[in-house]
Amino acid sequence: MQKSPPRTAILDCDPGTDDALAILLALASPELHLAAITVAGGNAPLARTLANACGLVALGAATVPVHAGAARALLAPYPPGWPGHGADGMAGVPLPAGPAPAPTLAADAIRALLRAAPAPLTLIGIGPATNLALALATEPPLAANVEEIVLMSGALGAGNATPAAEFNAWCDPEALAIVLAAGPPVTLATLETGRAAPATPARIAALRARAAAARPGRGRAAATAAAILAALPSPRRGAPGSPLYDPCALAWLIAPALFAARPAAVSLDLGPGPSRGRTSIDLRETARARVLDLLDPDGLFTLLGGRLARLP
Ligand code: BDR
Ligand code: CA
Repeated sequence: MQKSPPRTAILDCDPGTDDALAILLALASPELHLAAITVAGGNAPLARTLANACGLVALGAATVPVHAGAARALLAPYPPGWPGHGADGMAGVPLPAGPAPAPTLAADAIRALLRAAPAPLTLIGIGPATNLALALATEPPLAANVEEIVLMSGALGAGNATPAAEFNAWCDPEALAIVLAAGPPVTLATLETGRAAPATPARIAALRARAAAARPGRGRAAATAAAILAALPSPRRGAPGSPLYDPCALAWLIAPALFAARPAAVSLDLGPGPSRGRTSIDLRETARARVLDLLDPDGLFTLLGGRLARLP
């Protein structure tokens, strides 16, 4: 059977522990060709998230260009990151030194890639949406060259950064609103999608075992991913493990059968009050957005372990 060609994508991120696993999953997956990794602050200040992205590219022995982007949100500084990622964004787990970032800034790189692409590209956003918004707001016709925008953002119910808002949406709500309204279809992995994939001790042990059993010269990236998951603080409210948010967005593009996608209308609270950044996801309305339900969490962890064990 002939294999379909990889989907070309730009991955915008703020690594970040779960971003790290998402980046490694992307680098290990032939279904995706990453044309660029673009980086914003969010889980840690930009200097840190940028160094982490470069270190993860080195860990995956990849040659994807990494572009520095937003150090702040459109209207304000980014709020402090979730402390669980640690001051280094990697929960204290060391990464190799990476290559230098590419000279072009993120929004410029995104626009240049969209302009030059022979076929529509996929935009993946697993951090604050600032870079994607800057790119799409400064040259709106380029939205026609976007096949799909896949985001980890928002929540059906309560938030995690505030009682109302999910962290990525809360970091830059205006940017998220721009991306949602840009025109291309948007698919959202929400807080609920990630919470359906808890990194339980058994799943972390299985990932560590895959790393140990990898072919000679492989397994370091998988071992690092297992160490990151093991270093996360205990989950709240008796959850069996920390949620795996950002890898869900990537897994949707790699193994869509793990998910169900429900059409929904997504809007956002941009006011200054306690609801700022809240996503309102109306499953009764059919719009150009979809939200993901994870159907097979074990399948997600099996995918992650199998793919990461292919990396050095
Ligand atoms: C999102 O917030 C960040 O801390 C994670 O990396 C993820 O992208 C989950 O709310
Ligand atoms: Ca993230």
